[in-house]
Amino acid sequence: MVATLPDFYIRKVSLDDLKYAQQAADIFNAAYGVNNHGWASVKKIVNNYYTTKEEIENYIRESVAGNLIQLFLFERDAQGNDKAVAGTLTIESKCGCSDGDLPEGDGMLGRFSVDLSYHSKGLGRQLMQVGLDEMKKANYSVCSILVFENRTELIQWYKKLGFVDTMERSPFHPPEGTTIIDSVPFALLKKKL
Ligand SMILES: CC(C)(COP(=O)(O)OP(=O)(O)OC[C@H]1O[C@@H](n2cnc3c(N)ncnc32)[C@H](O)[C@@H]1OP(=O)(O)O)[C@@H](O)C(=O)NCCC(=O)NCCS
Repeated sequence: MVATLPDFYIRKVSLDDLKYAQQAADIFNAAYGVNNHGWASVKKIVNNYYTTKEEIENYIRESVAGNLIQLFLFERDAQGNDKAVAGTLTIESKCGCSDGDLPEGDGMLGRFSVDLSYHSKGLGRQLMQVGLDEMKKANYSVCSILVFENRTELIQWYKKLGFVDTMERSPFHPPEGTTIIDSVPFALLKKKL
C-alpha cells in the first residue's frame, strides 16, 4: 500500500510544533532503535543512537531562526488537522556527526526518520523529495548525505535518486550515550541540485 497525501503532508516546523518535540523524538528513536528489524535498520551498527525532546526543541528553534531547515512529516486527522508527527528530516550547512566542514553551497540531509509502523509505504521518498525541493529554494547547489557504507540497499536507493558515492569515507562520531557495535565508516554521497 502506498501512503499518500492528503493523509500525510510535509512542512517546515513552526514554534507551535514545540508541542510535538517528544513525539518526534520517539519516532526518531524507534526508527534508529533495536526494534527496527527492517531493511533500513542500524541495530547491528550502533546501539542507543537516540535523540531527546530537548534536542528536537533546539532543532525547531534553530529552524525558525533560519539557521537550518527542520521538516516534519505529519499525519492528518479526518478533519485535515495535524494528528501526529510521522517523520523527521533536517537540512544543515554542517554535520556534527563526522569530520570536515561542508564546502560552500553544500547542505547535509540528516536525521531522516519515518514512523516504524509506516515504513516502506512511500513516505520516506516523499519526505526526501520535499527536502531536496527545500534545499533548492534555499539556494543550496549540492545535497550531501552520510550513510554507513555497509547499508548497501539504502545506498542503492539513494543512487537511484541521483546521489553519487564520492568514495570519501569518514568515521562516525557517536553522540554521548551511543555505542558503536560495528565500526563502519560513513560513505559521503552527493547529488547536484
Ligand atoms: C530510511 C527511511 C527514512 C525510509 O523511509 P520509508 O518510508 O520506509 O521509505 P519508502 O517507503 O519511501 O521507501 C524508500 C525506497 O526504499 C525502497 N524500499 C522500501 N522498502 C524496501 C525494502 N524492504 N527493501 C529494499 N528497498 C525498499 C522503496 O522501494 C523506495 O524506493 P522507490 O522510491 O524507488 O520506490 C526509514 O526506513 C527509516 O526511518 N529508517 C531508519 C533511519 C535511517 O536509516 N535513516 C537514513 C539514514 S542515512
